[in-house]
Amino acid sequence: MNILEGPGSLSLPEEINTMFNEGPEDVLPEFKVSTGRLRPPEHPGLAKFFYAFTKHFLFYCPIVSVLEIGVGGGASAVGFTKAMAGGGIMRCIDNNSYKTVNYPEDCKANILATGFNEGNLHMYEGDSKSILDNNFPPSDLTHIDGDHTYEGALYDIIMVINIMKLNDERGYIFVHDIDNTREWLIERTKEHPHPVYEAFMEAAEDYKLPWKILTNIGKHLGVLEI
Ligand SMILES: C[S@@+](CC[C@H](N)C(=O)[O-])C[C@H]1O[C@@H](n2cnc3c(N)ncnc32)[C@H](O)[C@@H]1O
Repeated sequence: MNILEGPGSLSLPEEINTMFNEGPEDVLPEFKVSTGRLRPPEHPGLAKFFYAFTKHFLFYCPIVSVLEIGVGGGASAVGFTKAMAGGGIMRCIDNNSYKTVNYPEDCKANILATGFNEGNLHMYEGDSKSILDNNFPPSDLTHIDGDHTYEGALYDIIMVINIMKLNDERGYIFVHDIDNTREWLIERTKEHPHPVYEAFMEAAEDYKLPWKILTNIGKHLGVLEI
């Protein structure tokens, strides 16, 4: 399977696809959350993609910092931290609004099970809109998967772009759940039938950032390069 398939102007190195296909099938088979909830079907694949992407990124940037907004139980975050093998910094944000996992306990346990160093793990509890400000540290890689309303997703994406620009940093921003071929998000409205997709495309156009949509990842993953 070519994991890099999909529309967009951003070209991603073929090595990421090779690493994805040669990497572990499931980066954390022992993943669990205390509520007993199972991982959504796309999440082992999403974690596997982040594992491959981070491994590739580490060739060029020996210390990587990662932020995930809407990290939940860490089903996708474990891909980053497994690849980081104890080094680098992982920042997690969640307001526990879905109540499908116990945050931060479940997330922390899963991330530490990948061998990540507890001292490099920063867990923030609350609404991303009150946690992210211009003083929040920039990250090389950011995964946005929190508020899925059009306004909420747009806020998170723009805030992360602004933090990167203020610090003159480069990196990648991932945005999950942007499949615009289905109308399945409960956050959809008449004005915004594909809320996260619309926020992603609007930010890419307004800030003139190269973008790509990876359609072979469940519920589609957007990538912005900054
Ligand atoms: C789709 S789930 C994320 C799944 C997660 N990325 C994973 O890998 O398992 C969305 C998460 O975002 C959180 N969330 C929703 N709105 C938020 C907000 N405004 N600020 C912070 N977290 C939020 C929810 O509590 C939920 O855990």
